[in-house]
Amino acid sequence: MWDEPRLRFGGDWNPEQWPEQVWAEDVTLMRRARVNLVTVGVFAWSRLEPAPGRYDFGWLDRVLDLLADNGIRAALATPTASPPPWFSLAHPEALPVTDAGVRLHHGSRDTYCAAAPAYRAAASRIAGVLADRYAHHPALELWHVHNEYGTVCHCEHAATAFRAWLTARHGSLDALNAAWTTSFWSQHYSDWEQISTPRATQYLANPGQLLDFRRFWSDTLLAAYTEQRDLLRAANPAVPVTTNYVLADWVPVDHARWAAEVDLVAIDHYPSAVDGGAEEQTALAADLARGWARHGARARAAAGPPATARVPGDAAGSAWLLMESAPNLIYTAGRMHAKEPGRMARHSLAHVARGSRGAMYFQWRAPVGGAERFHSALVPHAGPDSRVFRETVELGGILDRIAETDGAAVEASVAIGWDAASGWALRHPGLPSQRIDHHGEVAAAHRALWRAGFGCDVVLPGDSVDGYALLVLPALYLASDAVAAWARGYVEGGGHLLVTWLSGVADEHARVRTGGYPGAFRDVLGVRVEEFHPLADGDEVPLGGGGTGRIWAEDVGLTGAEAVRAYAGGVLAGRPAVTRHRHGAGTAWYVSTRPDDETYRRLLMEAALAAGAAPTCPAAPAGVEAVRRRGAAGSWLFLLNHTDRAHRVPATGVELLTGAAVDTAVEVPAGGVAVVREAAPAR
Ligand code: GLA
Repeated sequence: MWDEPRLRFGGDWNPEQWPEQVWAEDVTLMRRARVNLVTVGVFAWSRLEPAPGRYDFGWLDRVLDLLADNGIRAALATPTASPPPWFSLAHPEALPVTDAGVRLHHGSRDTYCAAAPAYRAAASRIAGVLADRYAHHPALELWHVHNEYGTVCHCEHAATAFRAWLTARHGSLDALNAAWTTSFWSQHYSDWEQISTPRATQYLANPGQLLDFRRFWSDTLLAAYTEQRDLLRAANPAVPVTTNYVLADWVPVDHARWAAEVDLVAIDHYPSAVDGGAEEQTALAADLARGWARHGARARAAAGPPATARVPGDAAGSAWLLMESAPNLIYTAGRMHAKEPGRMARHSLAHVARGSRGAMYFQWRAPVGGAERFHSALVPHAGPDSRVFRETVELGGILDRIAETDGAAVEASVAIGWDAASGWALRHPGLPSQRIDHHGEVAAAHRALWRAGFGCDVVLPGDSVDGYALLVLPALYLASDAVAAWARGYVEGGGHLLVTWLSGVADEHARVRTGGYPGAFRDVLGVRVEEFHPLADGDEVPLGGGGTGRIWAEDVGLTGAEAVRAYAGGVLAGRPAVTRHRHGAGTAWYVSTRPDDETYRRLLMEAALAAGAAPTCPAAPAGVEAVRRRGAAGSWLFLLNHTDRAHRVPATGVELLTGAAVDTAVEVPAGGVAVVREAAPAR
């Protein structure tokens, strides 16, 4: 089970889309590919409950029995992301409403309001019936609740629930008015009933209201999830429950907070880049998932006496799984891009290297119709006689050969801060630049460290950062007093902190801190910024020592810090661009612009080395990603060669894909992967 080292391999299987003769072929092919886990029933509500309260479980019984007979386990889904047509007809008030007040209709998926009582009741009913019927089925390994929570609604149910949430959060209208600065533009509320969701309005909406709405909606979706989870858990407490996260910063879901409520963080990852950017996006997605999972485990531990984890985590408590990814075609700017041979395995193993408990795909077999008929599949339209299926079979073998790495902790000496609320707040259109994006800034810092070869963990503001040589906080726009004290404490205790522009500028209600930017972190950074100088699209500002700054610049005053790099042109010429401040027993860097990628890589490398961090594999050539995992039985070095030629990388031990002994160096094939069980655990 989940406490044994075993990597999960499989994907969404939709047998309801096929005649039963195809099921037998599917299972034979799954066995050939060593598939051991399939997600079943995600969008099957109308087949499971064809009319209100009338169920048809015969086909699902046969599907699960077939899986059990063949030693394949199921991640059994609750089908609540796609209510059947009868539900929408019977409950038009449960259909979602856009911010412009337009009610959407049945015809796609996610046509429900998560705050509508009729929807919640129907969802609980079908989840409860599935729990009663299948909670002890031998095929069941994981409950997969819903699919990609994330859609929003502005109907009256949502507004009523929003007001209740606001009452609980703010306590009084005075507090809400203060938090939202409603004295601006005559928005003062004198009765709770005056407050609605942030509907489409004439000009810029209130930033506090928008931010609270996203927080509220995250909680609403979470309540919809936990309602189902509790039913499933009650039917058989031993079976873990999760839901698959969609990774996008517009999604009103605080994935880190949710992590405390799932037994295993599950992510769907579809990189938007097709070139080298996809590798960097993959590394970040995996590091985020691991960080969210660790944050969730810690929050659970802090909330009560430790319960036995249904899915044991690594040494840091982190348990996560790549639940969906694309075997081949990926959507990009108006077309689909075919992955080159070998990329499916390399990208999947990049997730496994960073702690995923396996590699799962959307989807098993490509459908003949339906909206996503051209989305890629492990068994494509061409059938099993295809490159993709041959690569699937090969990957199944590889995952078996590296199963011993499952559960080992991922090595990281640098931590990067991530915060859903800062991401949401920075989406407000009234900011000094429309090019600001918390996730994008986290990605840029992560990319720089990735290119410099440092292992990174993602942390949430307030998390323990003991043991990290360097803490990087990119564009952490919102910082409460507690978060400011957390960063200060880390530096005073000897930590090295690097903060980038627009951090700490606002409090937790998105109200700007006065007295100079970056408000919350001014003292620890030893700087005071009077003015922002956002740059125009395509504009760059030269930096002393080479390189350029983009997107943003600031007039930084020194109040204790020293200038490490200065602006070398424009109105800020000669003014500090990057500063360093010795504070307490530690050091705090401030970066007031977005350096170009190479300058950022060099800068973060300098800060990381000065902090005592070491790259995972200093001799790895550019384009070869190295990740080390450590467990009780030793350490493993994953080497992912993203270039188109083979590279030799120093290592000693045994290469698990080939079984070959490695004396001094291992050859990593072009576009391929090597996993070395290291002879002597590297320190
Ligand atoms: C998501 C969904 C799947 C499918 C894929 C296609 O991850 O969960 O149902 O729509 O995207 O990209």
